[in-house]
Amino acid sequence: MNLLRTEALKKHFGETRAVDGVNFTVNEGEFLSLVGTNGAGKTTLVNLISAFLAPDSGRIFIGDRDITHASVEERIRAGIARSFQLVNLFDDLSVLDNVALAIFAREGKTKRILALAERDAAVTREASDLLGEFGLDGKSEGRAGGLAQGERKLLDVAVAYALRPRLLFLDEPTSGVSTRDKAQIMDTVSAVVRGGGITAVVIEHDMDVVFKYSDRVVVMHEGRFLADGPPGEIRQNSDVAKYLLGTDV
Ligand SMILES: Nc1ncnc2c1ncn2[C@@H]1O[C@H](COP(=O)(O)OP(=O)(O)OP(=O)(O)O)[C@@H](O)[C@H]1O
Ligand SMILES: [Mg+2]
Repeated sequence: MNLLRTEALKKHFGETRAVDGVNFTVNEGEFLSLVGTNGAGKTTLVNLISAFLAPDSGRIFIGDRDITHASVEERIRAGIARSFQLVNLFDDLSVLDNVALAIFAREGKTKRILALAERDAAVTREASDLLGEFGLDGKSEGRAGGLAQGERKLLDVAVAYALRPRLLFLDEPTSGVSTRDKAQIMDTVSAVVRGGGITAVVIEHDMDVVFKYSDRVVVMHEGRFLADGPPGEIRQNSDVAKYLLGTDV
């Protein structure tokens, strides 16, 4: 059963065909990588699915439900969460409070947040446990702005994960970090996601990372899907090599 499906999804910016008639399916339980050169349309596709942008045309379904016109909040309730290419954290709040805020938002409690925050032990416990899963429990009292880059990327994923989605989109969770931090982030993320039975779509440029962690790889080029298959098949695909790596096989 498809968890998510898009039908002929389209978003143009003037002459730029950012997403150009995309039929995208995500299956329950898979760890999928979305790859493609800069400007291929990956972030735009995630923005459309998470309601940060409205499509020009086409439809988006979660299971049988048409969510094309649903709000961000409705899509979160339908099980979709996402992280950001440029992390989206409250730097002056503590690491723990960044996660606690997402939990309050999930529970519709943000209007009373200041009154609730001090005494909601359940939220504090959940946020603390969740930070433990991401290896950030030792950092929970410090400011989010004081974290190292790799830790910030992980915290941004943890905030999205705190919404307890069925389907988690991660837009370049390893961008701007060292090769060693990359491996650590991906080991942590894949352990949490697989352990939690969550379906994940990860945008990633490093093909070694992509081939190591993914069940399936979708390649985008100029707003369209160029290839879609298991890592072994994508590795052998000469179009992918040509467009993505700039080499002829
Ligand atoms: N809000 C916008 N207004 C105008 N053009 C946009 C906008 N957002 C994206 N684009 C353009 O749409 C195309 C696709 O951009 P997008 O950010 O989706 O690519 P991407 O695959 O995520 O690239 P990267 O790997 O660099 O993050 C690019 O040509 C980009 O310049
Ligand atoms: Mg992008």
